[in-house]
Amino acid sequence: MKKGKNLINMFSLILISTLIIGCNEDSNIKSKKEIKIGVTLYRQDDTFISTITKSLEEIAKENENNDRTKVILDFVDAKGSTINQGNQVDRFINQDYDVICVNLVDRTAASTIIDKSKSADIPIIFFNREPVEEDMSRWDKLYYVGAQAEQSARLQADIIVDEWISKKVLIDKNKDNKIQYVMLEGEPGHQDSLIRTEYCIKSITERGIELEKLADDSANWQSDQGITKMNQWIKEFGDNIEVVFSNNDEMALGAIHAINANNVFTQKPLVVGIDGIKEAMDSVKKGEMAGTVISDSKAQAKAIFDIAMALSTGHNIEEVEGIQDNKYIKVGHTKITSKNVDLYIDK
Ligand code: BGC
Ligand code: CA
Repeated sequence: MKKGKNLINMFSLILISTLIIGCNEDSNIKSKKEIKIGVTLYRQDDTFISTITKSLEEIAKENENNDRTKVILDFVDAKGSTINQGNQVDRFINQDYDVICVNLVDRTAASTIIDKSKSADIPIIFFNREPVEEDMSRWDKLYYVGAQAEQSARLQADIIVDEWISKKVLIDKNKDNKIQYVMLEGEPGHQDSLIRTEYCIKSITERGIELEKLADDSANWQSDQGITKMNQWIKEFGDNIEVVFSNNDEMALGAIHAINANNVFTQKPLVVGIDGIKEAMDSVKKGEMAGTVISDSKAQAKAIFDIAMALSTGHNIEEVEGIQDNKYIKVGHTKITSKNVDLYIDK
């Protein structure tokens, strides 16, 4: 009898001390040893996406030292298949991950993934490929991290406008006071592709500069497709091309490759990209690319990480830096030309 009582006392002691340990300033904050974050990527070989994943890994590593929680990041590649991505999300759910991060293969088809996560009560952070608004409002534990697409387009336009104003004699090869251009678009239907294409041109015409579109087409964000498209356009329009707008750097680098391989230009067209990947920064430094716009992959990775940590440690999501409507973080851009490239290269 006495032994039993002692045992009970001991249990209550353990219980009380556990409560005390678990009880920091804010009683909502869970203290956890391990946080599991599953990340599914539309394509792991996408250069820009790989810069986000690299940054995420670095941030998690830094966090290891100054936090008592251990963060496990599990990256998987959907290889462009919605079926793969669905299976990957199923696995994260079955293995009871704390947060699921989804770089959607098809941004218009998020509902199945959302419904599954909702019934398992595991929050989702979408990134880089934005679900449509209707899907984003299906549940309150859905988040999106991406870039301010319109701003990137306007900065890209700025680069060309500045060049046009200062070097018009060189750029306006046919002296008609209009910019003859071709446009390399990203994947059809991708929000960054649609918005960048639209606002880049809008922003230039708003400033009273006339443009003439020679051609535009999708090269699916990829440099080899950029080369193919550009080669076709060079055959068709030759030296008439004055400017190449590209929705991202990979395709812009492809265009430059094609321009350098075809000996038809009296004056090479100006090429502008977006992303600020390393090869593009080098190309700006070399004077081959007129400029690019940094889409801050580190800041996007940090935003994903901050939301994931807040969600899995019970912190208030409103406290996350830069969050809007308790759902969205859209990171800003930096314009890069030969004038400031040295300040940003290798960073
Ligand atoms: C980037 C592209 C990338 C795409 C992937 C865009 O925001 O600019 O380089 O291929 O995202 O979804
Ligand atoms: Ca012209």
